[in-house]
Amino acid sequence: MQTEMKQTAVYVYEAPVRLWHWVNALSITILAITGYLIANPLPTMSGEASDHYVMGYIRFVHFAAAYIFTVGFLGRIYWAFVGNEHARELFKLPCFRCGFWKELVHELRWYAFLEKEPKKYIGHNPLAHMFIVVIITIGGFAMLLTGFALYAEQTGIGSWQDSLFGWLIPLVGQSQDVRIWHHWGMWIIVVFVMMHVYVAIREDIMSRQSLISTMISGWRMFKDDRPD
Ligand code: HEM
Ligand code: HEM
Repeated sequence: MQTEMKQTAVYVYEAPVRLWHWVNALSITILAITGYLIANPLPTMSGEASDHYVMGYIRFVHFAAAYIFTVGFLGRIYWAFVGNEHARELFKLPCFRCGFWKELVHELRWYAFLEKEPKKYIGHNPLAHMFIVVIITIGGFAMLLTGFALYAEQTGIGSWQDSLFGWLIPLVGQSQDVRIWHHWGMWIIVVFVMMHVYVAIREDIMSRQSLISTMISGWRMFKDDRPD
């Protein structure tokens, strides 16, 4: 039997979405490493702390990455309004579309090696879509709120950080409670990233559609090497 290879390509992720993805991934990686070190500081070095300023630099990098993360987040919201329909996926979940939950269960079974045939999607598959909205959109926003509320304690009463985010601390309880939520948020995002990278590589190999190169070039290639 002759096997014919057919390929179809669809332009999915526009340049600002792709740029945001990689800048966001880098800033989150830096935030998680520096945040972990803020929570578990390095051993004290001999001499005056201010001469070394090690934790000071680590906190500076955390805050610099936090601003990049925040500007990226705002830019991504803007692009959801002006970009294509896939640019909006990050902010809306079609959970009332009939078939969404069925496809989600199919994806769960496919990831668990219980399905033989992958389904193909132009945008995100329903399972990835749900995780991205919950962990990155809602979770990322929560990290931003809690992070700036903690930061407001340092910029002080009357600063813009305090005016915009200071209300969160009395609402949650006290500053240590906000810090714990911020800390938990990091571990939730770290677990997401581990699954996300595993699944991106796995799907690229197994689902007969491109994934990683799609987040680089914007084009999704659908490969079908089965005979008609
Ligand atoms: C901190 C690290 C990362 C975070 C927080 C992250 C987050 C995200 C988010 C939010 C999206 C949805 C983009 C949108 O709709 O605007 C996405 C898509 C994607 N990410 Fe990541 N990502 C990270 C790292 C990576 C890495 C290292 C890879 C490659 C191995 C990767 C591969 C992909 C792919 C292939 C997609 C598109 C999936 C599809 O085509 O449906 N990501 N990621
Ligand atoms: C995904 C994003 C982020 C991650 C993973 C993250 C992670 C962390 C972690 C683990 C800590 C240590 C908490 C502890 O002491 O137990 C921390 C502290 C902190 N983070 Fe973040 N963070 C993120 C975003 C932000 C943002 C957007 C801001 C806004 C300015 C921010 C500001 C702070 C501040 C002010 C502290 C406390 C520093 C201190 O007490 O010295 N973070 N972060």
